[in-house]
Amino acid sequence: MTKTANSMWGGRFAAGPDAIMEAINASIGFDRRMAAQDIAGSRAHAAMLATCGIISDSDADAIGEGLLTVLSEIETDQFPFSTALEDIHMNVEARLRDLIGEPAGRLHTGRSRNDQVAVDFRLWVRDQCDAVDAALLALMTALIGQAEAGADWVMPGFTHLQVAQPVTWGHHMMAYVEMFARDRSRFADARARMNTSPLGAAALAGTSFPIDRHMTAKALGFDRPMANSLDAVADRDFALEFLASASICAMHLSRLAEELVIWSSAQFRFVKMSDKWSTGSSIMPQKRNPDAAELIRAKIGRIFGANVALMTVMKGLPLTYSKDMQEDKEQTFDAADNLMLALAAMSGMVADMQANVPSLEAAAATGFSTATDLADWLVRVLGMPFRDAHHVTGTLVAMAEAKSADLPDLTLAEMQSVHEHITADVFDVLGVKNSVASRVSFGGTAPSEVRARIAEWKGALA
Ligand code: ARG
Repeated sequence: MTKTANSMWGGRFAAGPDAIMEAINASIGFDRRMAAQDIAGSRAHAAMLATCGIISDSDADAIGEGLLTVLSEIETDQFPFSTALEDIHMNVEARLRDLIGEPAGRLHTGRSRNDQVAVDFRLWVRDQCDAVDAALLALMTALIGQAEAGADWVMPGFTHLQVAQPVTWGHHMMAYVEMFARDRSRFADARARMNTSPLGAAALAGTSFPIDRHMTAKALGFDRPMANSLDAVADRDFALEFLASASICAMHLSRLAEELVIWSSAQFRFVKMSDKWSTGSSIMPQKRNPDAAELIRAKIGRIFGANVALMTVMKGLPLTYSKDMQEDKEQTFDAADNLMLALAAMSGMVADMQANVPSLEAAAATGFSTATDLADWLVRVLGMPFRDAHHVTGTLVAMAEAKSADLPDLTLAEMQSVHEHITADVFDVLGVKNSVASRVSFGGTAPSEVRARIAEWKGALA
């Protein structure tokens, strides 16, 4: 059976598309998510056309009202979506024609689907930047809460996942606050750069109608219209900046997720996830699995994937619009959805998790974690060059290791057998509490420093 040609552009077509053509061409299955943005863009455009004397006020009013009806139909799941009408733009316009008749046909004056989709998608991505910003703020607040509770809880700091030096729980939590704050600023930068309007670029070359692009830009909350109509319809760098920022943020999330997985294991016992954020096993009754953390760690893959996919779609495309660009949306939607979900889950887990303070402190004392403190003491008190102090300390570590003991377990006599001038004072710096308290350099792990950073962040976020 031959279908009839599309009512929106079928003038020069005798027949409609093959069913497979319709399937590959249609985007309505996913771009319906931009319905609110599409209708906002169309309402701004119609109002501008009337102000500029291009359509009548009564037509603009009918269009504006009719579009609100369409929006409420969509919001209440009463809208008759049609695959034959390809995308959200043509679905909305066709429905508007059903509702208000002839004036609907005037809406597309001085505009094309190319600038229309560019404006819709920009508005959608801009909204996501705002949503992610709020979600990041919530996560930072949860992390700061943990940091405040445990500004002086001692835990091992790791390099190479080997115990390196004692640090504080608060310091570790605040490290992520810094990372997520930079993520926020990346999204804010992207948002500021994307906030220019493509509307009125029309198909690619601009239009001969006396439109006012500044007016529509302002009505849609953009800073100004984009200055080049070819660029306006051709680029998707705004979505790529969103995805790149999302990828970096997701990478940060995956590191925290990985730490939570490790920390909640029986080998570490650094944290206990609350019941709300744990799952059991259907066969092993003792299990408490950190599934949310694992899923966050895994979901990162699709966010990176979306970034690579859109870079690949855009790479090598000649100016201006090509239908390839319709592939910009699904991946971005998916990345945004999963980033939001991961941020919300992480905030919940972090807010609810309970650090096991004795376990943290006991672990902090293992692995000769205060060896650097000992070397520093030899430099500070005995005036040794650091390299020599490093060597003496290494010898003492080997001695302790041979006894299956830690550094504070060595006797003074044993220490003096390696260096005769070592005194009993040295034992002060071998305790993990003293170790962290001594690291007062700016940005260091001392509780006093951590509390200062917490206060600064609380002030900045208030
Ligand atoms: N559905 C299309 C997209 O997402 C809208 C733009 C279509 N433009 C065109 N010239 N066929 O890219």
